[in-house]
Amino acid sequence: MDLKKYIASVPDFPEKGIVFRDISPLMADGDAYAYATNEIVKYAKEKGAEMIIGPEARGFIVGCPVAYAMNIGFAPARKKGKLPRETVEVQYGLEYGSDVLALHKDAIKPGQKVLVCDDLLATGGTIAATIKMIEELGGEVVGTAFLIELTDLKGRDKIKGYDIFTLMNY
Ligand code: PRP
Ligand code: ADE
Repeated sequence: MDLKKYIASVPDFPEKGIVFRDISPLMADGDAYAYATNEIVKYAKEKGAEMIIGPEARGFIVGCPVAYAMNIGFAPARKKGKLPRETVEVQYGLEYGSDVLALHKDAIKPGQKVLVCDDLLATGGTIAATIKMIEELGGEVVGTAFLIELTDLKGRDKIKGYDIFTLMNY
């Protein structure tokens, strides 16, 4: 399936010079959303994932249906101040700005095989921060899965040694 048909490219959003790759049309089309989800599910099974982690907010959109389809758990990595119980936290930079991500300390069992899902790999700041928290909690990151990779931003270089699955490149 030609998934790029379902990505809206919006120039100068959220700031001048950024081309925003909007996945909303993909999510709005049942066949495209199911196809993209099933491709990631196949990858997650190959990797033996036992748990899915997705960073706020679009990582929830990609990760939750994968977890549901596999009958495994999902835990959210959220922006600071949103999770109510004890967390690990890490500061990170992204294509437009910086932020702090947090994960509940009991989100992952030591040794658990974790797949990280997000909509898009840009500079790699978000995924690197998420991996750091998972490993701090004793999880094993068996792979990372994205709908979109922005190749020029070289996010891959920030997570060398980790397996990366992507469905579209820009
Ligand atoms: C976007 C996107 C990824 C991240 C990628 O999230 O959904 O999580 O940026 O950029 P990076 O590779 O440079 O870190 P954003 O922080 O904009 O949050 P949102 O999903 O809540 O819109
Ligand atoms: N997150 C970081 N860079 C992005 C972009 N260009 N489009 C959509 N989400 C993003």
